[in-house]
Amino acid sequence: MQEIGIIMNGVTGRMGTNQHLIRSILAIREDGGVELPSGEPVVPDPILVGRNERKLRRLSEEHGVERWTADPDLETCLDGDDEIYFDSQVTPRRPDALLKAIEAGKDVYCEKPLAGDLDTALEVARTAERSDVKHGIVQDKLWLPGLLKLQRLIDQEFFGDILSVRVEFGYWVFTGHVQPAQRPSWNYRAEDGGGIIDDMFSHWSYVLENLFGRVETVQCLEKTHIPERVDEDGEPYDATADDAAYAIMELEDDVVAQLNSSWTVRVNRDDLLEIQVDGTEGSAVAGLRDCKTQHRSNTPKPEWNPDTPKEHDFYEDWERVPNNREFENAFKHQWKQFIRHVVADEPFPWDFAAGARGVQLTEASYRSADEGRRVAIDPLEI
Ligand SMILES: NC(=O)c1ccc[n+]([C@@H]2O[C@H](COP(=O)([O-])OP(=O)(O)OC[C@H]3O[C@@H](n4cnc5c(N)ncnc54)[C@H](O)[C@@H]3O)[C@@H](O)[C@H]2O)c1
Repeated sequence: MQEIGIIMNGVTGRMGTNQHLIRSILAIREDGGVELPSGEPVVPDPILVGRNERKLRRLSEEHGVERWTADPDLETCLDGDDEIYFDSQVTPRRPDALLKAIEAGKDVYCEKPLAGDLDTALEVARTAERSDVKHGIVQDKLWLPGLLKLQRLIDQEFFGDILSVRVEFGYWVFTGHVQPAQRPSWNYRAEDGGGIIDDMFSHWSYVLENLFGRVETVQCLEKTHIPERVDEDGEPYDATADDAAYAIMELEDDVVAQLNSSWTVRVNRDDLLEIQVDGTEGSAVAGLRDCKTQHRSNTPKPEWNPDTPKEHDFYEDWERVPNNREFENAFKHQWKQFIRHVVADEPFPWDFAAGARGVQLTEASYRSADEGRRVAIDPLEI
């Protein structure tokens, strides 16, 4: 049986523990490994890396992972023959760690965003490319069942010409004053890499680019609606980062995307993320798992008349898209593809160049908000 060593840095964090360790790497081990094109399995063998010895020991005991080390600065853990370095640390710590791993000849895979600014993201992407190591970035939203159904509709040309895309993302993140917040406090401090634009626009970049086409311009308004929050220790702190962003983007082929991203909104829709696509032949609304459609032949002909009671239920005009298949956890699915990329050289287009484009869109959106104008996004050379 072939094994592949994976150095997992930041594994005690929310994403590192739940999505990457438990639902991906350990789940793949339970399945008996990733099947290579030859039919042979390759089994991931993780080493847990982080700052806090106590947390690492507990995590390793809870999940029966033998190898762990409190070596977040990678003083020694890059010396061994583990092939892959994975990073889900807080974003500001990522670029240096990736550069060290690349220098040590590791193939590198990481959470988004690739870096906090475009120059650094380009440096990391170019170094990885020049060093001939394999590189990949998490783009989990592409494998959400709802988005896979949307992709299926696009592939079968359901929409005709796509006119516009509306992304509604968000939910109420508690401020911590009465009930504890459900997200880490660094998300609300700009100086620690927080901000909803920093967090979400790297997702919007690959979602838009993969499903609808390249983003050509962005006009964005950012807000910090709630200026004070309470942290994990019950201490009040200044929320310096944006907690909501309202953007309009122009995509290739004249498609317009509007995106509301907010941690200060209460949900009155089917899901935490909803993407509505309107086309000449039909429309669809995708959530995290479900997707519904309305063909032009089922489209009602509403007339504006607020003087009479509403008789038509607009929700009834939509049809559910069936599953027709099993859906795997999105993070696990992408991990399997990255491992096959490393071991069997299978294609893996979700690389650091795509990661850098995510940071480019993020940076352009902040610039648009600062300068109060529409910003063009030029194609990136890696
Ligand atoms: N793909 C996604 O959907 C998704 C969702 C949320 C977060 N993320 C990304 O994952 C990364 C981690 O986010 P998270 O929500 O798991 O955060 P988290 O705070 O729960 O975990 C952060 C990890 O980094 C480590 N760390 C190192 N230095 C730190 C410092 N100075 N302060 C705090 N932690 C430090 C922590 O020990 C921990 O292991 C971020 O880069 C974030 O952008 C991705």
